[in-house]
Amino acid sequence: MTKLVTTAPVPEGPGRTAVVMTMGALHDGHAALMRAARKDADFVIVTIFVNPLQFGAHEDLDRYPRTLEKDLQICEAEGVDIVFAPSVREIYPDGTPQVTIHPGPLGEQLEGAVRPGHFAGVLTVVLKLLHLTRPDVAYFGEKDYQQLTLIKRMVRDLSLDVEIVGVPTVREPDGLALSSRNRYLSPDERQLALALSRALNKGATQHTPDAVLATAGKELTGLSVDYLELRDPRLGPAHSGPARLLVAARVGTTRLIDNIEVELH
Ligand code: PAF
Repeated sequence: MTKLVTTAPVPEGPGRTAVVMTMGALHDGHAALMRAARKDADFVIVTIFVNPLQFGAHEDLDRYPRTLEKDLQICEAEGVDIVFAPSVREIYPDGTPQVTIHPGPLGEQLEGAVRPGHFAGVLTVVLKLLHLTRPDVAYFGEKDYQQLTLIKRMVRDLSLDVEIVGVPTVREPDGLALSSRNRYLSPDERQLALALSRALNKGATQHTPDAVLATAGKELTGLSVDYLELRDPRLGPAHSGPARLLVAARVGTTRLIDNIEVELH
């Protein structure tokens, strides 16, 4: 039986505890995180919190999908022990916090260049939720690769006692990366959105930076691209060996991101 908890403290469980942090509107990508957690831990907590701190003034905070009833059913089916779904007041009792996490230089690049303050909001809430749930391990999707990288960095830089595990992106059969924002896409836009995964897949067939970027870029003509970049696995400058190709583009009014592993030589 999944137990819904809306106020801290979150009950502690026996043995190894895993947390999966979400903003709700759960889909199969989240279910994959829960399954990885369930396999590895004795006690699984899912947090559901649409964090105002990580949304810019012109972003989709108000229209972000809120589907708690359905989310609880998914958590129940995945054998989650506790869903922690606090109110904004519970997390930020004094309003906007004055002490926040500074994500460092990487927080201003890629997503951070387009969404100023976004990663300060993400890291601040992630740190708070880690404190409130006290897990041994926390699972995050590779779809938000920069978020995952920054969370790992925060854990190292601030000596947090938690293991961070990345889980591969779950895709529709046609390649579209699962995202809560996909539900905003009209059928025509959904068709256009396939260009992102197509660009990444074609780019990943190449092995020099110029060829990767040129091949991927060709697939994106006609889309409003925020960035298409090749970085090393920790999002520093790309060298030879494993690298990450990352893309963000707008399809209609919906902003989508995706990434893939690439091998450079
Ligand atoms: O990836 C998300 O859903 C959010 O950014 C997170 C990690 C739950 C923080 O609000």
